[in-house]
Amino acid sequence: MNSISESIHKQYAENVWDKIQTKISVQCDRIGVIVPYIAVDGRYSDKMADNLYWWTNGFWPGILWLLFYSAGEQKYADTARAIEERLDAALAGYEGLHHDVGFMWTLSAGLDFKLTANPASRVRALHGANLLAGRYNLRGHFIRSWNKDYTGWIIVDCMMNLPLLYWASAEVVDPRFRYIAMEHADTALKYLVREDGSCNHIAVLNPENGALLETPAGQGYAPGSSWTRGQAWALYGFALSYRHTGEERYLTASKRIAHYFIANIFRYGFVPPVDFRAPDTPEKLDASAGMIATCGLLQLSDIVPDAEKKLYLDAAMRILKATEEKYCDWDPGRDGIVQKSTAQYHEKTDEFHVPIIYGDYFLIEAIHRILYPELQVW
Ligand code: GLY
Repeated sequence: MNSISESIHKQYAENVWDKIQTKISVQCDRIGVIVPYIAVDGRYSDKMADNLYWWTNGFWPGILWLLFYSAGEQKYADTARAIEERLDAALAGYEGLHHDVGFMWTLSAGLDFKLTANPASRVRALHGANLLAGRYNLRGHFIRSWNKDYTGWIIVDCMMNLPLLYWASAEVVDPRFRYIAMEHADTALKYLVREDGSCNHIAVLNPENGALLETPAGQGYAPGSSWTRGQAWALYGFALSYRHTGEERYLTASKRIAHYFIANIFRYGFVPPVDFRAPDTPEKLDASAGMIATCGLLQLSDIVPDAEKKLYLDAAMRILKATEEKYCDWDPGRDGIVQKSTAQYHEKTDEFHVPIIYGDYFLIEAIHRILYPELQVW
C-alpha cells in the first residue's frame, strides 16, 4: 500500500469509526448486558438468554472490547466482562457446546485477557480450547462439528475456531493445540476447498477412518453450490492459519478462495448474495458474508508480499464501502448497523435480510483493523 492510498483508507476508516462510536455508545447504554442475535424493528433483545450455547454469543462482547481498545471507556469493558460471566453457565453446562467454542470465547474471554490480562478470562479461554481439542478425531484427523449423531461432519465455518487453539498453544507453551488445529486445517483443505477456490459448506466423513462420504448443501443453495459466508469463513480462516503457522499451503488456499470470491462478487455490486451459485432471483443477500470476507482480505493484504497487497486491499475496501453506503443504518436510536444479512439460503424468514450481530461485529473489526492493525483479535 502506498502512503496516498493508505491515508485515504485511514481517513475513510476514521470517518466510519466516528459513526460506529456514536451508535455503539448509545446502543451499549440502551441494551447493556444482553446476549443479542437479530435486531427486530431496530431492537436487539436478550434472545439468546435461553440458549447460552449459541455460536454468536461472543460477538456483542467482541464489539465492546474493540470499542474499549479504541476509546478506553470503562463502560465497554464492564459490559463485555459481565456478558463473559453470563457465558460461564454455558461452560459449566457443557451439553450444548460444540466446535463453535472458538467463536464464543475468542471474542469474549480471549479478547478480555489480551486487553486486561484478567486471569479468570485466561482460564475461560483455555477451557474453551480444551473443549475444542477434545473434539478431535484421531483416526479421521478432524475436529467434529455439532453434536447429536453428526459424528463425521466437518464444516468450513470451523476454520475460524482454530485461532483459539493456536492461542492456547502459545499461551501454555505446548504444541498439542496447534497440531490439532493444523491437522483439522489440512482435512478441511482436502475436502472443503474445491479446485476452483469455491468451498463446500459441509463434508461428511467416515468417523472411523476419515474417508469422504458426501458433501451436502448445508446453509447454501444446493450441493455443489457456493454459500458465500462459508467462502468468507474459509478465506479468513486459512489466512489466519497461515499467520499462526507460517505454512504456505494455508496462504495459497486463502488466496485461491479470495480470487474466487473477488471474481464473483463484482456481479453483485460488491454486496454478496447468500450463495454465488443460486438463481439470480429472488434476490437473497448476505451482507455479513461481505464483512467477514473484508476482514479476511485485509488480513491477506497484511501477510502477502508488497507487490500483491493492492489486490486484496482494494477488494476489501470496495466491499466495505458498498455495504456502508447501501446497507448500514447509522441511526443511534435503532440497534443493528449492517442490514440485509441472512443466516441461510432456505427457510427461516425471520433470519432473512436482517441485522445480525456478526454482520455488525465484522464491519467493526474491519474498520478497527485499518485503524489499529497492531491488535490481533484472532
Ligand atoms: N455457524 C456459522 C454460520 O452460520 O456462519
